[in-house]
Amino acid sequence: MSPDLWPARLHHLRRDSPQPERLAHFYGELLGDRVEALPDGSWLVAGRHRRLVVGKGAAGAVPYFALEMQDAAHLTAFRKGILKSEDFTSSLFVDGAYALTDPDGRRVVFGLSKEYNSSDGMPARLQHFVCATQRLPQMVEFYCGLGMAESDRVLEGEALSAVFLRSDPEHHSFAAFRAPESRPDHHCYETNGWLDIRDWADRMAKLRIPLWWGPGRHGPGNNLFFMIEDPDGHKVEFSAELELMPKGMPHRTWPHEQRTLNLWGSAWMRS
Ligand SMILES: [Fe+2]
Repeated sequence: MSPDLWPARLHHLRRDSPQPERLAHFYGELLGDRVEALPDGSWLVAGRHRRLVVGKGAAGAVPYFALEMQDAAHLTAFRKGILKSEDFTSSLFVDGAYALTDPDGRRVVFGLSKEYNSSDGMPARLQHFVCATQRLPQMVEFYCGLGMAESDRVLEGEALSAVFLRSDPEHHSFAAFRAPESRPDHHCYETNGWLDIRDWADRMAKLRIPLWWGPGRHGPGNNLFFMIEDPDGHKVEFSAELELMPKGMPHRTWPHEQRTLNLWGSAWMRS
């Protein structure tokens, strides 16, 4: 039986760069969020329902992403149901956080949020993280083994080319695409509606950051979206109207074609 992850939400992730201060200030300007130095030399970019840790490391890397559990009882009970967790210290989580390492070598962290002061910035809650992987079947087995529920899968013939997994009623908090190399793919901010997408796109115009893909509507998740690139080429998505799925709802299947990833037009195909 799977451990009971439900409900858990993406709380923060770490993006690495050879020039972390520069990248932190890019995100601070992008989102209108405060940027502060953390004691371990990394940087925190924090705003309205969103937090990003920027550390020194390989360009484009996401060494971990962190899920927030419901309460202390949930955090403790979940740890008993999984194997090989290790203690994890985070400036953003209270003591008691822990982590597992997935088949691609990325850590997934579980914890409880410290109190923090969110500002009154534009609405965009950090909502999902997506990776590309050479080991999609192993990744699906690993994350489903943690209790994530499969919402949608994409098939090319018999072969799995993408899978979308949820840890609460939101369609996915994590997804993985089959690709020739394992790497981070994008992270996403969920807004309150289509007019927020307009406002964020207008903000991109003001900042002279061109939209990289979209606006469009994804098949899996049915959400409206656009993406931009950060200075390392990592993609950042703004989304609205992400589908909600109850806990026991079975997954659906989509064909491996452009229309699946963008009902409105052309798509970014990872394989
Ligand atoms: Fe996404």
